[in-house]
Amino acid sequence: MGRGHVLILAALALGAATPVLFAQGRGGGGGGGGPIIGPPPPNAARLYSENCLQCHGPEGDAVADVDLGHGQFRRAKTDAEVERIILHGIDNTGMPPHNFTEPEALSVVNYLRSMADRNASTKGNASHGESIFMGAGNCTTCHRVNGKGSRVGPDLSEIGRLRHSNEIEQSIVDPDAQILPSNRYVRLVTKDGATIAGRLLNHDTFSVQVIDMKEQLVSMPTANLREFTFIDKSQMPSYKGKLSTQDLTDLVSYLVSLKGGPQ
Ligand code: HEC
Ligand code: HEC
Repeated sequence: MGRGHVLILAALALGAATPVLFAQGRGGGGGGGGPIIGPPPPNAARLYSENCLQCHGPEGDAVADVDLGHGQFRRAKTDAEVERIILHGIDNTGMPPHNFTEPEALSVVNYLRSMADRNASTKGNASHGESIFMGAGNCTTCHRVNGKGSRVGPDLSEIGRLRHSNEIEQSIVDPDAQILPSNRYVRLVTKDGATIAGRLLNHDTFSVQVIDMKEQLVSMPTANLREFTFIDKSQMPSYKGKLSTQDLTDLVSYLVSLKGGPQ
């Protein structure tokens, strides 16, 4: 809210706006642009996904006999012990040490604690969830799973490998809360006044490609554009109050089960 990014592409022609464009994609590596004042507060979800997810998985249960998402650990009773494991690793096992600051380590401990509360919501009926997804929920009017559905919204075939159940649930009931940089939508206004809204696939100094709301690929030279605006509001309707608690739980369980690959 209130953070509309408007880029006038006319400025691109002057070669001035490229760093601004890159600065939009948070965490997308790249430029950085403006000065950073002080260290940013640790982002626990991101620390987890960048350092732990590859072994422990989005639900914390991917290592055999280890379940990080249930608030109980075999090797640690207190938060301080969990923190020590994260910082120093566990000798002679696959658990490596991590070069975190104290606040970072603590925020990851809290993140593991909060996973425990959320994992309650993954106990639904995934096959009922699938029928909601493919049917009454109308999800396939925008989303695609394993080749079925639309390309207007992001493909969800691997969503269970990428996102925690809690984040998936939040996407459904509060789509504006967090939008991944890869899922950003833009509004383009051409010099002759036509407006195109769509999911941004690619952009560089010379051209922009989007998938528009009719699933058409639109490729446009930037020279033809008057305006290029990131849309911060999600194009996805909120399902808050539109699904029963059980249906929501079932739907989340279905999405959590989507890990990509043949199945
Ligand atoms: C390279 C793979 C790998 C990475 C990366 C990794 N872990 Fe582990 N972790 C393991 C393995 C394997 C174990 C099981 C060790 C054992 O007890 O045999 C483990 C054990 C643990 C335990 C102890 C669990 C218990 O029940 O006592 C905690 C806590 C833990 N990891 C947290 C983390 C966190 C948090 C991160 C990220 C900051 C992380 N791990 C990154 C592989 C990994
Ligand atoms: C009118 C189009 C539309 C419909 C209908 C729709 N979505 Fe979405 N959805 C989107 C768009 C656009 C995004 C990407 C922007 C965002 O994250 O909000 C998205 C994002 C998501 C995400 C997050 C994806 C990610 O990569 O993190 C999930 C999960 C999701 N939708 C699930 C659903 C489910 C389940 C339904 C049906 C109950 C549904 N959507 C219906 C358009 C739609």
